[in-house]
Amino acid sequence: MLPAKVKNLWRLLHGRRLMDFTSLTRKAYYSRLVLGIETSCDDTGAAVLDETGTILGESLYSQNEVHLRTGGIIPTVAQQLHRESIEVVVHEALERSGVTPSQLSAVATTVKPGLALSLGIGLAFSQKFVRKHNILFIPIHHMEAHALTIRMLQPVPFPFLVLLVSGGHSLLAVARGIDDFLLLGHMLDEAPGDTLDKVARRLSLTKHPDCSTLSGGQAIELLARSGDRRKFPFRTPMGRIYDCCFSFAGLRSQITMSILKKEAEEGIEQGTLLSCVNDIAAGTQHTVAVHLAKRTHRAILFCKENGLLPSDNPILVMSGGVASNQYICKALTVITEKTGLRLLCPPPRFCTDNGVMIAWNGIERLKEGKGILSPSEDVCYEPKAPLGVDISAKVRAAGIRLPPVRMKIRS
Ligand code: KG4
Ligand code: ZN
Repeated sequence: MLPAKVKNLWRLLHGRRLMDFTSLTRKAYYSRLVLGIETSCDDTGAAVLDETGTILGESLYSQNEVHLRTGGIIPTVAQQLHRESIEVVVHEALERSGVTPSQLSAVATTVKPGLALSLGIGLAFSQKFVRKHNILFIPIHHMEAHALTIRMLQPVPFPFLVLLVSGGHSLLAVARGIDDFLLLGHMLDEAPGDTLDKVARRLSLTKHPDCSTLSGGQAIELLARSGDRRKFPFRTPMGRIYDCCFSFAGLRSQITMSILKKEAEEGIEQGTLLSCVNDIAAGTQHTVAVHLAKRTHRAILFCKENGLLPSDNPILVMSGGVASNQYICKALTVITEKTGLRLLCPPPRFCTDNGVMIAWNGIERLKEGKGILSPSEDVCYEPKAPLGVDISAKVRAAGIRLPPVRMKIRS
């Protein structure tokens, strides 16, 4: 309880609206339940967590099957699907948790980065919800949420190195605090998940009996298990650029050229399954894995040279949708074993987008009292939002050459 004198002073100084805010902060201190809402891309997710990271209730509606049918994410379609499902998803998460809106300390919602039309639905719903129920609001950065998910599952102290790989992003950063990141490298063209999705689409993998409902990345991983990667030895991108940035567009051109050549050889047209899809999938997955591993290897060496990670038990976290790929995890393990780091990856259901990771980021912010807003405050979504302080030019200037590493990865 705040002493009466302090209360009166607040009332005098700030008037009624801010008194509401103090009473809300007090409520947050005692109960600490957060509702997380995610709509940045093509998943409508909601979850209620307590501050220990226990998931009290969750609901997730994936639009994947619709977008597979339309041949990629059409923003207006994604927006409409979010609009149709947000209320049900939030209601389900709350009902499963047995928590009423008045018991919540805050609502945490992804407001950046992502598809403008998708972000807008989650934000508009959340602002209406917090105003109706008079609860605190915590705007969330989607990539920060991916980076911190692991801390919900096990204690991982700062600082740690993080590789975030998804359908919209590829980046390497040092996480120094919940809102303190050093960006070592970022993508220059398309994200690895996007590349995998486009290759899968070019190969018409939805027509494959085992892949009809899988995302592109999942389909490539499944087929690659019985493929021979040596039949398609694609060049690893950016071999002579000694930084930690990523590029996948050139790799996709190489893959498309090989597909065209094979289609001509087999006398088939685009839209028909090639006999060698497993081998192409294996070659694609291997090259993506090696590119990610090499850039991460350089990031580790840079961190070591500059004392950015603890010498005792340094950790690499990998997260984002592509991090659910077991072959890519093994490639990264080759690097962490060579450099003495420990690789931590959330299980696949927490790597791909979900409401849980957003609620957890809200809990982390609530605990540290960072970025917590009163319900009446206006918030704008931001489709583009960098993560942390960009020191990628400094990394490039260091020009670190990698020692040879044998990338022997068993699928
Ligand atoms: O993090 P996420 O759910 O959404 C974004 O923020 O982008 O990531 C989705 C991406 C998709 O491109 C999907 O193909 C890829 O993650 N993905 C995978 C796997 N599962 C999902 N990529 C490779 N292997 C997988 N097993
Ligand atoms: Zn994501």
